[in-house]
Formats: sequence, C-alpha cells, structure tokens
Amino acid sequence: MSAVTMDQLVSLCKRRGFIFPGSDIYGGLQGTYDFGPLGVELKNNLKAAWWRANVYERDDMEGLDAAILMNRLTWKYSGHEETFTDPLVDCRTCRARWRADHIKDTCPSCGSKDLTEPRPFNMMFKTQVGPVADDTSYAYLRPETAQGIFVNFANVLTTTARKLPFGIAQIGKAFRNEINPRNFIFRVREFEQMEIEFFVMPGTEDAWHQRWLDDRLAWWRSVGLSGDNLQVYTVPKADLAHYSKATYDLMYRFPIGFEELEGIASRSDYDLGSHSKEQESLGLSAKVGRNDDSTAKLTYFDPESKRHLVPFVIEPSAGVDRGVLALLTEAYDEQQIKPVTPERAQAVAEALAAFVKSVGRSEKLPVEQRDALLERAELIGNDLAASMSQISALLDMPGAASIELGKKLRGQVEPTLDESYRTVLHLKPALAPIKVAVFPLKRNAPEIVATARQIRKSLQAEGNMRTVYDDTGAIGKLYRRQDEIGTPYCITVDFDTIGQGKDATLTGTVTVRDRDTMAQERVPIAELQAYLRTNV
Ligand code: GAP
Repeated sequence: MSAVTMDQLVSLCKRRGFIFPGSDIYGGLQGTYDFGPLGVELKNNLKAAWWRANVYERDDMEGLDAAILMNRLTWKYSGHEETFTDPLVDCRTCRARWRADHIKDTCPSCGSKDLTEPRPFNMMFKTQVGPVADDTSYAYLRPETAQGIFVNFANVLTTTARKLPFGIAQIGKAFRNEINPRNFIFRVREFEQMEIEFFVMPGTEDAWHQRWLDDRLAWWRSVGLSGDNLQVYTVPKADLAHYSKATYDLMYRFPIGFEELEGIASRSDYDLGSHSKEQESLGLSAKVGRNDDSTAKLTYFDPESKRHLVPFVIEPSAGVDRGVLALLTEAYDEQQIKPVTPERAQAVAEALAAFVKSVGRSEKLPVEQRDALLERAELIGNDLAASMSQISALLDMPGAASIELGKKLRGQVEPTLDESYRTVLHLKPALAPIKVAVFPLKRNAPEIVATARQIRKSLQAEGNMRTVYDDTGAIGKLYRRQDEIGTPYCITVDFDTIGQGKDATLTGTVTVRDRDTMAQERVPIAELQAYLRTNV
C-alpha cells in the first residue's frame, strides 16, 4: 500500500463526491464538512456495522437516540460548564488565537513571540431556546452524546428490566467550538460519535475495561484497519479527563501520524452519581459536585445483595468522522498498471517546473497560498512516475487554479494518470458506498443497454445492494472510476450476454470483475444475486 497524504485524500473526496467543505459557495465555515453521495453511504455503512456488532450481536446492549438539546443543568452537573475548556493564547501582533498546547512559544501565523498567558476557553456552543433571550433561556449543543445516555439511565433500566452488566449505545452528532479545527475531518466543530456507556458492578470495572479495549480493537480490525496501524496509548494520570479513573486511547496511523480514533474510559460512578439527588446516601466512590436539582437517584437494585448501588461505567467512545478518515487512509492505494514512457515523464517534469516557477513569481496569489503551493511542490519527489497523483493533488490546492500554467500541467498529468495508474480504495465490500456497477459494452446497442439497466435495477431493488449504471466511457475508464471509489464488483453486459457473440454457451452470462485482483469471470445472470451476496 502506498502511504497517502492528507492532500490526496482531500482531493479524492472532493473530486468524487465523498466529502465537501461546508457552505462552500459562501466561502465555507471553518471546521464543517458536508458528506456527499458517496460519503454518506460510507458513513452510514460504518455506523451500521458498529450498531450491528454492538447492539444486535451482543445480548447485553440497548440502543438510544437522545435529543441534542438538553437542559442546561445536564452540563452543569456533568462538569462540562466548568471544565470542558481548552487553554487559549492570543497573538498580540496578528490577533490569531491558538490552543496553548498546540504551539510552542511562537505564533504559527506571523512568527511573533508576543503571546498572552493561556486562559480557559469553554468549547460548548450556546444557543437560545424559545423566543425570549435572557440569561436563563439558553442551551448548549451537546459536546458529547454520553450525557444523553446517563440522564436516561433510569428510563432504560425500568423499561427493559436489564440486569448488570449491560450497556446503552448511541450514535449522534456532537458539537465543539474547537479553537483550531484542522486536518480535514480529523478535528471539526460538528461531528458524530458512536458511544457506549457500559454499566458494571463496582469492583469489576478493571476487567471490563480490558475486555472493551480488546473488543474495540478487534472491531476496528474487522472493518479493515490493520493491526500495524493501530496502537494503544494509556493516558497518564495527570492528563485524564475530570470524570476518568483510567483511559486507553486507541490510536490510528492517520496521514498526520498516530492520533486518537477512540477513547475507552473507566468513569467509575462519577456520572450517575453526579446526576443523582441525595448523593450522600449513595456511598459514591467518585468525588462529585453537590446536586440540588436532580429529581432522581440513578441507582440499580442488586437482587443478590438486596441493596441499591450506583453502577460503575466503562465508556468506549469513537468518532464517526475519524473512523471514515481512518478507513479512507487504510484503503487508499495507487498502483501503476503500465510504465510511463520517458517522453511523457519528461513532458510532465517540464510542465511542473514551469508551473512552480510561475507560482513563485505570481503577484496575484495571497502569500499563504503561494507558500503552501511551493511547500507542497517541494515534497514531490524526483521519481515523477511515483508522484503523479501528488501533482494532481497539488493542482487541487487553493490558488492553483489561478495559475495559467496549471492548465498545461494538468493537461500532461491527467492522461498519464489515466493511462498508467489506477487509484483503488480497498474498502471492505460491506463498507463500500457502491457495491456493484453495471456497464453496457456498447451504449448504442439497445438490447445490451436494456439488459444492463435491468440487472442494475434488480440488484438494487431485490438484492438490496447499492448499484449504479454507467455508460459514459470506455470500459477501462469505467473500471478505473469504480476502483477509485472502492466498488468491489463491476459487471459488463456484452454481445455474448444477448446471444449475439462468438460463443453461444455464454448467452445469459455477464463478466464480473473483481476490484482488488482485477480478475474477471463469467457468471449467469440468474446466479448474480447469490454470487454477489456471498461476497459483499
Ligand atoms: N464521551 C467521551 C468523549 O466525548 P472524547 O475523547 O472527547 O471523549 C471521543 O471524544 C471521540 O470523539 C474521539 O476519540 C474522537 O474520535 C471524536 N472527536 C472528539 N472531538 C472531535 C473533533 N473535534 N472532531 C472530530 N472528532 C472528534
């Protein structure tokens, strides 16, 4: 697998309709992204796989979908009003704001060392509820889905009659006013979480913590992340969140290096205790703030000891967006399928050199765009044949389109990419946005077209597989377009299929081509659904 850069992923995602910058036509809104036709399928498939593994395939889990807006008191007693902060510094020279722990002592924007002392900045978004704006009529957009689970603990317990240990799973949006959203969908202001609060008998939490770590690692591997790209980081005591007794961070090797994909925290009885009334009667082990507003004791009646107790909590909390980014990083591959001729390589090298020179001289380009382009161009290696898609990503960067010689460079790179390379997303078939693509060998042969369209329709309607029909290019190009979005199977309908080819024994069969091996085999139309179903 080739190591992929963030630029290559951003470029692929925008070009093929996985992920677009939010509010793009109005200049964007920093830290927001919109999932396009392919992105929404991939994201839904990831969430469905998580739900299936954690809710349907276990017998100790219930699901929940709590409201995003919650009574403000939730966030007072959860500790978020007071402690959900990042340390922020201001640059007195250029007025940029930074997270103190993300920079050393120099402003990354202007290089000034004249920075303010760090001060806490609360990351929750505030919004007004109802028509009257006053000091009490506001709510927060939830910064985590977890609290919706804790405040519903008693509701779920009484309606399902669950016994410990059991969990509540939820997938939903979370919002954080990140000071410096960055790295594509890695750190954004609006994202989704897949969270479990797993309630256990006090004293059993360490064993459950380990079990959940093992389960979650196994699950990420099952959706396609390789063991080499996953690491476990034990968060040092001094860095633990206010609610945590111990936390494992599950780290993935993103293009920016190993970073957190999921946190698995041991939260003791902090949360249920914090949201309970009459806390002094509960024998809590966690130190919680006094709660005079709650109307409930969030306890569990243990039939064996015949006493009410506050369960301990293990919380596996994963980010959907980071999950999508990890899947794309892992799946991305570029393969050379034909050598690049020396003439072609020479033409690309010359066009690239001319483009870089023109960027350096440009007076129209904003300085930061010019510097970013030159910096990226410098990273392109001498082995042009191996860098073709990096050049293409360079041309997709902000400002590149305003350089006239960019068009000439694109004119050299794109045919080379088309002829000699294929980009493949080796996504697990169950996660691939499109499962099958159907092509007619000739788009002006009515019987072939009708058969192809009929196959597409029946695979999608009866086979319940997201299927597309495409006749907008030669077969080789159509295969390449599907490889790039991870479609596991392409089906081609030809003259043999309709009984007008050279081999009469192939009547009623189609060519099925495998994305990863590029191997092709003939399959009877009648057996297509069964054939594909065993594989996707
Ligand atoms: N309830 C616990 C909790 O929210 P967290 O470590 O703050 O813990 C859990 O968040 C996961 O949510 C992270 O591991 C990450 O995958 C995702 N996440 C957190 N902040 C994010 C952000 N700004 N952008 C994208 N994903 C984020």
